[in-house]
Amino acid sequence: TRRYSITLLPGDGIGPEVISVAKSALVLAGSLEGIEFGFKEMPMGGAALDLTGVPLPEETLSSAKQSDAVLLGAIGGYKWDKNEKHLKPETGLLQLREGLKVFANLRPATVLPQLVEASTLKKEVAEGVDLMVVRELTGGIYFGKPRGFSKNENGEEVGFNTEVYAAHEIDRIARVAFETARKRRGKLCSVDKANVLEASMFWRKRVIAIASEYPDIELSHMYVDNAAMQLVRDPKQFDTIVTNNIFGDILSDEASMITGSIGMLPSASLGESGPGLFEPIHGSAPDIAGQDKANPLATVLSAAMLLKYGLGEEKAAQRIEAAVMDALNRGFRTGDIHSAGHKLVGCKEMGEEVMKSIESKTPAA
Ligand code: NAD
Ligand code: IPM
Ligand code: MN
Repeated sequence: TRRYSITLLPGDGIGPEVISVAKSALVLAGSLEGIEFGFKEMPMGGAALDLTGVPLPEETLSSAKQSDAVLLGAIGGYKWDKNEKHLKPETGLLQLREGLKVFANLRPATVLPQLVEASTLKKEVAEGVDLMVVRELTGGIYFGKPRGFSKNENGEEVGFNTEVYAAHEIDRIARVAFETARKRRGKLCSVDKANVLEASMFWRKRVIAIASEYPDIELSHMYVDNAAMQLVRDPKQFDTIVTNNIFGDILSDEASMITGSIGMLPSASLGESGPGLFEPIHGSAPDIAGQDKANPLATVLSAAMLLKYGLGEEKAAQRIEAAVMDALNRGFRTGDIHSAGHKLVGCKEMGEEVMKSIESKTPAA
């Protein structure tokens, strides 16, 4: 048996509900592939604030660093929204990403044939969409300095942030994106705002420089406003998209709706070395938390990404992916992806159906 240590960070809102399902999927798919997991559950986000006074306790970060991979549910909620910046759940998440140095965030958006009807786009537009957003995760305006609150020359209060990228930060995310495109359909679109922002002009210049290492990849550039429009006009034109931290945040939420629901989109955050961080792209969904309504599949699919990208356990990952497809094929739908003629289930029941599918489905070798 192969053994791995996993730090679980359930977090807030629907986080614990979806993590519980994903954990069961890991255990079951792992056991069928001779994998054993040692789980360590640690507080993070609002839950950690209530327990320890900070959103990312040192013990949580050190456990994450020492494990083979980290699986996060979601953080945040009304209760902590008015907290000072350093005491916000979201700040804990940024500290975790920075602490693990996971600069490359892979956010795949795939329209599954079973869910074409769940998309708000027309069938012919949504059908067959398969794209990957490569989002820079530890730089840009999220981390740039100077930042803060101050007064301007008229004595008026202001808030400010800085969009800044160093050459090495762009180069390394560009390489991840080119490599990703190479394993996919060989097309990379770099999204920026180089018509206005110096940080974007520099971004484009570095991406073009790195492109010389990847002559086999077809590189294009698009302004972010146009990209937001093109994503709903004709999403099939995209294969791999590479973009900065904030544009990637926004465009991946947009891409999620093409697939039917934000409750379906997983993500993997990777660094040069060390454990990866795996989380759904959605948040803590306070509006449905504690009601057994959350779609756990984004987190279940994040667990599959953990197996594949974090541990190199492709077969166990495929078991989970095949099981998600099978549960959908058998007609089970949470509220966010429900449409007429399907069986409406809650988070737990969807989880149970995925487990049945893991037991019964052996993916093709
Ligand atoms: P959200 O993603 O939590 O929710 C947006 C909408 O999508 C809500 O209507 C919600 O019910 C729905 N939704 C989200 N996930 C779902 C799921 N799995 N199944 C069914 N429906 C789902 O975004 P928000 O409302 O803007 O933010 C809520 C809180 O989450 C905030 O505190 C925010 O900062 C935080 N947040 C955290 C993360 C994270 O932990 N990575 C990501 C985004 C937002
Ligand atoms: C996400 C979230 C986070 C982000 C917030 C909660 C810090 O929206 O993971 O997409 O902006 O990166
Ligand atoms: Mn987001």
